[in-house]
Amino acid sequence: MTPTTPIIEFRDISKNFGGVQALRNVNFAVPQGEIHALVGENGAGKSTLIRICGGVYAPSSGGLRFDGRGVNIRNVHESRAAGISIVHQEIPICPHLTAAENIFLGHPLPRKNGLVDWNQVNGRARALFDQLQVDINPKAVASRLSIAQQQLVVIAQALSLNSKLLIMDEPTSALNKEETKHLFKILHQLRRQGLTILYVSHKLEEVFEIADRITALRDGEYIDTILKSEATPDNIVRLMVGREVDNVFPKVHHQPTNAPLLSAKNLTVPGLFEDVSFELFGGEVLGLVGLQGSGTSEVLRAIFGHYPHLLGELKIKGDAVKFRSSLEAIKHGIAYVPADRQIEGLYPHMSVRDNGGLLLLRLMAKGPGWISLKQLSQRMTAKIKQFNIRTASVNAPITSLSGGNQQKVVIARTLSTDPLIVLLDDPTRGIDVGAKSEVHQILNQLTARGCGVILVSSELPEVMAMSDRVIAMYRGQVRATLNHTEANHEVVMGLATGADVATMTGITA
Ligand SMILES: Nc1ncnc2c1ncn2[C@@H]1O[C@H](COP(=O)(O)OP(=O)(O)OP(=O)(O)O)[C@@H](O)[C@H]1O
Ligand SMILES: [Mg+2]
Repeated sequence: MTPTTPIIEFRDISKNFGGVQALRNVNFAVPQGEIHALVGENGAGKSTLIRICGGVYAPSSGGLRFDGRGVNIRNVHESRAAGISIVHQEIPICPHLTAAENIFLGHPLPRKNGLVDWNQVNGRARALFDQLQVDINPKAVASRLSIAQQQLVVIAQALSLNSKLLIMDEPTSALNKEETKHLFKILHQLRRQGLTILYVSHKLEEVFEIADRITALRDGEYIDTILKSEATPDNIVRLMVGREVDNVFPKVHHQPTNAPLLSAKNLTVPGLFEDVSFELFGGEVLGLVGLQGSGTSEVLRAIFGHYPHLLGELKIKGDAVKFRSSLEAIKHGIAYVPADRQIEGLYPHMSVRDNGGLLLLRLMAKGPGWISLKQLSQRMTAKIKQFNIRTASVNAPITSLSGGNQQKVVIARTLSTDPLIVLLDDPTRGIDVGAKSEVHQILNQLTARGCGVILVSSELPEVMAMSDRVIAMYRGQVRATLNHTEANHEVVMGLATGADVATMTGITA
């Protein structure tokens, strides 16, 4: 490896949280002016390392060198002042401030006659957005911006501060393909301008597309740094996991039931989707594919009782049902994993047991208000084992888990009710390669048991590989239903992007 000047050096960094050792003597350096990927399984310590750079946590021992000198970063202001800008794994910015205010938060603001000169603040913000070639209104309130736009606000802030290091913790987990492409273009542009980027991702294709060098952490320890040009997907996975992970998509096809479990006829929620009809059989995975805004996620939510004004007909095992709430859907054997697990999925002030056992509480209630906490703990302990969830105990606060492990708690909870029909919205987003194949195994177990699964995923290869049949949606409507022999990547993508069905070979819509 050619010697290069490091922008940041991690020196013997350890971090303990009570009994949990999140980082153990981590030593490595990120060379200046490159895009450096940081990879590792859920709970490997990536976010903890980043939070240390941002002054959110102090290391238990060891320290940082930044731009050639030892630094002691105690809070976000010191981190920014040193030249570090961070897009965190969770919500990146202050939701109630405007885009411009977020950029200049903590800067001395330009003043005129003793008052803040808002015209100048907004003008400067606009200039930064222009530089990034994005169309964001500086006066827009941040909570109204999309996640992609919020990230761009932080990047604009990095530019305004002349930051030397931009750190992004799984920035694309909530972005669609277009937004991801745009982000990569900007990151390449910033690197050409000399900015160093430390980039955390579970998506290996992304890492290969964007990184110059890749560092792997495992169980809180530094494993190795390799040049992208010398890396292969297999050896990266081996560095992360410490063993071979075979067949990422181990699909098993089962004989579907003769009668449908669920039939949907002309389902419509005005403005979201219309006339969606399909049947779901026991033993099959039905993939729903569509771009953002195509209505796929909304169809799942509708089946789960999120839209009381849902029109059309829904039948379970032949009986017409109408759900006014999700609880009614659960009672009919339906389970749902939402895409936005942070917002829809978790209660931050509660423990792993209570977050995971939330649905069990209802089912296990003995009498009004009485449940056995011991039994609940036992069942959650079993789930933690089954899903390989890394947590100090069932009583640990959910927020003490790494992002990916929090997601596994939501998935475990969903499946804890022994459902008949399982609705999964992007179940493997943000979880590591090992956990991904665990989720795929679980899909196989569910269908082997006769469950019907509807799968929405932002990763087309995943839906294609794991589904028995695929429905392509475009702008709220079903374009075609294909079985796995006729569904290939181009055809499904074509349908989902609105290509003309007649021109596509062998497909009858
Ligand atoms: N505030 C905290 N209190 C207790 N334990 C914590 C805390 N923050 C992190 N941990 C633990 O430290 C370990 C590393 O977590 P971290 O969030 O750094 O992982 P990660 O590599 O970012 O994982 P992911 O890919 O899932 O986001 C985990 O075992 C986690 O449970
Ligand atoms: Mg993380």
